[in-house]
Amino acid sequence: MSDRMKAVRVTGLTDPLDHREDDAASGALRLKPMLELAEVPRPKRVSKTDVLVRVLCVGMDGTDREIVSEQYGVPPLGEHSLILGHESLGVVMEADAATGLKPGDAVTALVRRPCGQPDCVNCRNGKPDFCETGAYVERGIKGMHGFLSEYYVEDARYLVKVSSSMLTLGVLAEPQSIVEKVWDEVQRIQQRLIWQPKTAVVLGSGPLGLLAALTCRTLGLDTYVWSKSPADSAAADIVRACGAHYKQASGASSTEAAMFGHRATVGDERQSEESEKPISPLDAFLKGHGKRADLILECTGYSPLAFDAMTALGPNGVLALLGVTPGNRREKVSVDRINHELVLENKCVLGSVNASRKDFETGLYRLGRMESLFPGVLDRLLTDRLTMEQVAQLDFSGIGVKAVVDVIPQSEWTRLAAASEGEVAYSFSV
Ligand code: BGC
Ligand code: ZN
Repeated sequence: MSDRMKAVRVTGLTDPLDHREDDAASGALRLKPMLELAEVPRPKRVSKTDVLVRVLCVGMDGTDREIVSEQYGVPPLGEHSLILGHESLGVVMEADAATGLKPGDAVTALVRRPCGQPDCVNCRNGKPDFCETGAYVERGIKGMHGFLSEYYVEDARYLVKVSSSMLTLGVLAEPQSIVEKVWDEVQRIQQRLIWQPKTAVVLGSGPLGLLAALTCRTLGLDTYVWSKSPADSAAADIVRACGAHYKQASGASSTEAAMFGHRATVGDERQSEESEKPISPLDAFLKGHGKRADLILECTGYSPLAFDAMTALGPNGVLALLGVTPGNRREKVSVDRINHELVLENKCVLGSVNASRKDFETGLYRLGRMESLFPGVLDRLLTDRLTMEQVAQLDFSGIGVKAVVDVIPQSEWTRLAAASEGEVAYSFSV
């Protein structure tokens, strides 16, 4: 086996050790991040718990897009490039038997690694997805190379087995884990009352929004997806195929409506508070349909919509915010109204990021449920299949719904992955 391998990396990122933060002011030349296919050293196992994994494919999402557009993404210490990829599917090549993994096992990997702070109680207790210091590391995102390479080495404790029956959908385990984590949190929070949710609203019809909508449907919820994509888009078709309702957003948010003169915005202090539009397009749509949103999942990453959702949410409901928004947008919002409604209607707003092993396991189970309830729908979500050579030229704005990079052509996967005897045993409970 060669000691070199191909990898897709983002170059021109700022080394986290480089504290000359305002390069522009200091006149230093700042490179624009670029995607490139490179030859890099192949990683080697150094400890008994290390596992060598051959990558089958890697999914791309909005976070990858943000990293390439330079809003996000931190290379490992002392480096200026970052191997991309945090949604992985691979096959074990080398593992010590004591890890419980063996060559041929299909696996996916957790993304986040705990911070090193002794007093970070969550990192110290196996919950780095609740890290309190912000000093965590995320593979392919923050401080550690990702999985978009021919091989990677990872400690067995961060690998999750994927049964052979889930091989083609295993790459969705990571994005689905995000939905599972938040659904788990919502269920715990709602033990505060007698909660019988009927209606769920998903904001956004990107891959995460679609997985959220499919999850709501597997839970039997009447589901509405509100998104700016056209009603005849592939995403809208997927929404309808799982029995959810699709609504093309009229105006993306009430603040956007304000830009067209309905309401005061930052920088336009002349308009009075009284002239504010009382209701957002989202609220108007739900009220117009006689719907009370018990659960809203914000998956657009367009922050103004998160504030519209606070008022559109029904009494005792939960609004879960999942979109990462590294920009610095500023808008004027109706703070009294939002606060008033949150208090008087016992509403809960929750932010949620990343996921744990249990969420990956539940995610794999749930993907299987989706597949049996809505056969073929998940496959329609994976619209763009690319080779590693094609990624370097990738135009994120041209992706249908979701892009997957096949590091190895799909036709070869079953030869590399041993058929698992029976189903993989997971430790979750649904
Ligand atoms: C990933 C998460 C990660 C988050 C923030 C998401 O795209 O799925 O695992 O925690 O980005 O970096
Ligand atoms: Zn921590």
